[in-house]
Amino acid sequence: MKISVIGCGYLGAVHAASMAELGHEVVGVDVDERKIDSLSKGATPFHEPGFEELLERTLATGRLRFSTDFEAARGSKVHFVCVGTPQKRGEYAADLRYVEGATESLLGVLEPGDLVVGKSTVPVGTAARLATLVDEKVPGAILAWNPEFLREGFAVQDTLHPDRLVYGLPAGEDGEVARRLLDEVYAVIVERGTPKVETDYATAEMVKTAANSFLATKISFINAMAELCEATGADVKLLADAIGYDDRIGRKFLNAGLGFGGGCLPKDIRAFMARAGELGADQALTFLREVDNINMRRRIRMVELAREVCGGSLLGKRIAVLGAAFKPDSDDIRDSPALNVAAQLQLQGAVVRVTDPAAVENSRRQWPQLDYAETPEEAAERADAVLVLTEWREYRDLDPAIFGKVVAQKRVLDGRNALDREAWTAAGWQYRALGRRAG
Ligand code: UGA
Repeated sequence: MKISVIGCGYLGAVHAASMAELGHEVVGVDVDERKIDSLSKGATPFHEPGFEELLERTLATGRLRFSTDFEAARGSKVHFVCVGTPQKRGEYAADLRYVEGATESLLGVLEPGDLVVGKSTVPVGTAARLATLVDEKVPGAILAWNPEFLREGFAVQDTLHPDRLVYGLPAGEDGEVARRLLDEVYAVIVERGTPKVETDYATAEMVKTAANSFLATKISFINAMAELCEATGADVKLLADAIGYDDRIGRKFLNAGLGFGGGCLPKDIRAFMARAGELGADQALTFLREVDNINMRRRIRMVELAREVCGGSLLGKRIAVLGAAFKPDSDDIRDSPALNVAAQLQLQGAVVRVTDPAAVENSRRQWPQLDYAETPEEAAERADAVLVLTEWREYRDLDPAIFGKVVAQKRVLDGRNALDREAWTAAGWQYRALGRRAG
């Protein structure tokens, strides 16, 4: 099938290559020339395990190409809208200008019978509005909403092997046509027996925001327990293990630490609250404000913990920060808890050196006033404290005995509860973590 993918960021670039991998003829369209240039050459504009191989492989088949010209989407049967919906400046609501712009540009190339498929995360009600627009301007073209659940770091796997497919469909014959086309696009995935949920637009839009809100709530729940553990001397890691054995609760997404960041969870819960307010249902989501608060308090607590281990003052203290990306296996620093803490420490007088296996370049652009290092050893040279704020494998695998030779003081703060506490304390380190007793 001929497919266009509008927007070649994280979601769109991976989706385009994955659709080509499934056998379709795909064109990815984006206004960003540098991005298109890079993707066309098989170079990934962001760090994502497995993506470069997929990109090279699918470009080589001739089934995948990229363009900055919207005209390139003409002739495709299905058009995926994969542009971003960032938080509006100064308010909680989502900024829909890119989704609206992409849909309007598509109107110029759509033919009756074409299917426009929204994948971006949007406030409930957006799809219905866009469907009216499409129908008015190109009668016979149809709109469906098909949210995406990929995680950064697992984007290729999540796109090619999703745990469910959600189709938000219009009523009647148009809905039938849209379902048939989506089934054809995802034939390989559907035939594998992947669960499929067919809904109206509003439910499909809400599935995505509800899923991200649940995940954020789960993380803030365990981080609230961490606060209580700090007050009582209990251990949040063991607590999470113990409650996680109950499969109604589950152990996944119960890792206490510095909390959630990134380009999705924080802005999605805020946009959800804003939309609920517009709909007169704000009370239903006031708990998300607390989820956000708990999450933000962890960053403040981390700075306090650093001050505490440094003897009550951060002034002039040399602090090594291991990790800048919002999560491992990513170079994404959007709302990164690690960078946020690093910047706060620096602003409060510490001398901060940050390292990350993939995100140093992005971090330097955003926080040029921080000092950066290539390796953890370089970052930790003569450090008064080492903070592990993103749980990259390289940091979990550090040998505390060897690593201890470069620092001035063997003090480690495990912001992600990811290190082997026993090994670090046995090597003479003072070990501190959020929600756990000092080791
Ligand atoms: C999230 C969702 O997990 C995806 O399903 C969704 O498709 C995506 O947003 C999106 O909306 O596009 P992602 O932002 O890649 O994916 O990252 P997550 O793996 O959800 O992690 C988010 C943050 O939570 C990270 O900062 C991570 O360190 C933190 N986290 C995660 C914890 O603090 N504790 C945990 O137990 C798990």
